[in-house]
Amino acid sequence: MTGSDHRHILGCRVLIVIGGGAAAYKSLDLIRRLRERGAAVRVVLTKAAQEFITPLLAGAIAGGHAYADLFDARTEFDVGHIRLARDTDIVVAAPATADLMARMAGGHADDLAATVLLATQAPVLIAPAMNPHMWINATTRRNLAQLVADGVAVVGPNEGEMAEAGEAGLGRVAEPLEIVAAVERILAGREKLPGGDPLAGRRVLVTAGPTHEPIDPVRYIANRSSGKQGYAIAAAARAAGADVILISGPVELDDPPGMSVTHVESAREMLHAVETALPADIAIFAAAVADWRVAHEGEQKLKKTAAGMPPLQLVENPDILATISKLQKLRPALVIGFAAETENLIENAKAKLARKGCDWIVANDVSPASGVMGGDRNTVHLLTRDGNGVHVDIKIESWPVMTKEEVAATLVARIASQAENRS
Ligand code: C5P
Repeated sequence: MTGSDHRHILGCRVLIVIGGGAAAYKSLDLIRRLRERGAAVRVVLTKAAQEFITPLLAGAIAGGHAYADLFDARTEFDVGHIRLARDTDIVVAAPATADLMARMAGGHADDLAATVLLATQAPVLIAPAMNPHMWINATTRRNLAQLVADGVAVVGPNEGEMAEAGEAGLGRVAEPLEIVAAVERILAGREKLPGGDPLAGRRVLVTAGPTHEPIDPVRYIANRSSGKQGYAIAAAARAAGADVILISGPVELDDPPGMSVTHVESAREMLHAVETALPADIAIFAAAVADWRVAHEGEQKLKKTAAGMPPLQLVENPDILATISKLQKLRPALVIGFAAETENLIENAKAKLARKGCDWIVANDVSPASGVMGGDRNTVHLLTRDGNGVHVDIKIESWPVMTKEEVAATLVARIASQAENRS
C-alpha cells in the first residue's frame, strides 16, 4: 500500500503518538516519510516509548520538539496539551501497544499521549503492534471493538516475525508506507474529492479460493475454486482506495499488490485468520469453504488394507460467513456472501441470505454448463436485504454476463454507493 498520490498529505498537520514497543523505531521512519510528503509532524512519546527511543532523536527527525510529559512546564508553555490535540489534521498512534489501546478504550488521561488522544477531535488512526497472543487476547479484542465503535481507524497489524526470537504471527506493526497510505486515504476521505477513492479509509476483508481439508499428510479434500473472483474483488477494492486484507486458500495466483495477504489451508485456519483480521468495515466472503472435514486426520499416510477402503468420518466445518454475520461486536457494517448454486439459484440464494445473516448475497450459477468454476466469466445476481426483523426487503438485480474483473468492479461500485449513502 504505497499509494503515489500525496496531495492529501501536503501541508497537513500530523500528530504521531509513539507507544512503548520494539516497533517504536519504525515510527522514526514514518515521521521521515510524512515529512518527505510535505506534512508538518509533531510527536508525543509515552513513558514506555522513551525506553526504546529518545525524545531528542524523535524531535530531531520531526524537525521540532518531541513532547513527552503532561506536566512539563516548558512543553505546556510551548503548545499545551489541548493545542497539541486541536492543532492537527490527524492523530496517528504508532505503534499502538495493547496498553495504549486499553487506555484509549477506557478513556484514560493519565499521561500526555492518552490526554491528547482523548482531547482530539481530529480523526485518529492506530497502528497496533504487539505479541500475537496479546493481539488475540479477549481483552484486546474488546478494546479494539470499542475503539472501532468510537470511530478510530486501524491499519495492520501484519503477519510475520516478532522482535522476540521464535515468535511469529499477527502483531507486527504496519510498515511506515502502509501507515502513510492509510493517512492519505483518511485525509482524502475527509475531503471527499469528486472521483477520488470512494473506499478511502475503509477496511475491506476478502476471503478467496478453496480450502484444503487434510485426510492425512499427503491427501486432502478440496474443490475446484480458482480464487479468481475473490482476488479480482480484492484488487477492485484496493483500486477504490480501500485498505484490503485478503485471506486466501491455496490458489495458483500471485498475491495482488498493495494489500495484506494471509495464506491459509483449511476452513478452521481461514476462520481464525478472519477473526484476527477484524475489525473491518466491509467483509466479502468469496471463498469456497469446504463444508466438511475429516474427523480424525491420519498422522501417517493411510494404507490400503485387506479390509478395503479406510472409513472417512466427516464432521462439519465452521461456517465463517454465518459466524461473522452473527457477531455482536466487531460485525462489519456490510457483510457479503456468495452462493454458488447448480440449481434453483435465486430460491437457494434467498434462503442463504436469511440463514447466514449476511446483508448481501452474490449468487452465481456454477452448473458445469456455465463454465464459471475456473473460468473467466460469471453470471451474477445480487440479492440485497434491507431492514431487519419483520420488514425485510430483498431486492434482486440480475447482471449481464461479465468477466470476473467486471463483476468485481461492479460489486465494488455498489459497495461504494452504499457506503456513501450510509456515511
Ligand atoms: O453454504 P454455502 O457454502 O453455499 O455458502 C456460501 C457462502 O458462505 C460463501 O460466501 C462462502 O464463502 C461462505 N461460507 C463460509 N464458511 C463455510 C461455508 C461457506 O464462509 N464453512
